[in-house]
Amino acid sequence: MLQNLRKLQLSETQRQGMRAAGRFNSQLMDHIRGYIQAGISTGEIDRLVHEYTLAHKHTPATLGYLGYTKSCCTSVNDVICHGIPGDYVLKDGDIINVDITSIVEGWHGDQSETFLIGNVSEKARAVTQCAFDSMHRAIGALTPGCPVSIIGENVVAESDKYGFTVVREYVGHGLGRRFHQYPNVPHFPDRKSRQDYLLPGMCFTVEPMINAGSRFTKPDTTDNWTVRTRDGSLSAQFEHTILMTEKGPEILTTCANGPKAGHRF
Ligand code: MF3
Ligand code: CO
Ligand code: CO
Repeated sequence: MLQNLRKLQLSETQRQGMRAAGRFNSQLMDHIRGYIQAGISTGEIDRLVHEYTLAHKHTPATLGYLGYTKSCCTSVNDVICHGIPGDYVLKDGDIINVDITSIVEGWHGDQSETFLIGNVSEKARAVTQCAFDSMHRAIGALTPGCPVSIIGENVVAESDKYGFTVVREYVGHGLGRRFHQYPNVPHFPDRKSRQDYLLPGMCFTVEPMINAGSRFTKPDTTDNWTVRTRDGSLSAQFEHTILMTEKGPEILTTCANGPKAGHRF
């Protein structure tokens, strides 16, 4: 157990690789954020991501990943995650999560934000706020060597305040030279996450998906990627890549122009 975790501890040079990947990914998120407005299609958002990444000689991690054919995920309203960019045009009142992962010199940076399009319902604003606050509450609770379950405990406590629910089928993950690696980072506490520890030098994501209705999911049986809420309720998500250091968690994907902890949507 502990031996497997120790193998994931990065050296200072390797950590610099992860920092560079997170930095580029967050610059890319800042590049697209001004375009995410009513009237743009999700396919156009994908093209912005793709072109910016290639212009900087980096690689979109999702392109070709397990057969996925786009450079980001765009998840609108009742889509929980893995929405495929296409012809859908954003309209006033929508919420959209844009999830971007880049490979920079072999290292991965992975993050997502939910954006509010124009005037949204109070429910849409609340589920977005809850996802954002639960992510930051979980990150803020991390200490060197803490159990992974700290994350789930804090996400569940925050979503309970709203009467919202936490998705279980899709979880955060370790990352580094690989996109998805050990350990799993569930956003609810379970037996495994109580026995995994976040040691200095480990990198992982915190990416809670919060539903305004029931927690249950409904994968699309036609495209085999899009995951919706089973009851049609709204869902929101935020994601950061984290490096645990000897002093505590370091967020590697902070945007210059993005919302910071404490932000009110
Ligand atoms: N970026 C997602 C994550 O946070 C994974 C997307 S995989 C894809 O882990 F193939 F759906 F793009
Ligand atoms: Co992601
Ligand atoms: Co991720």
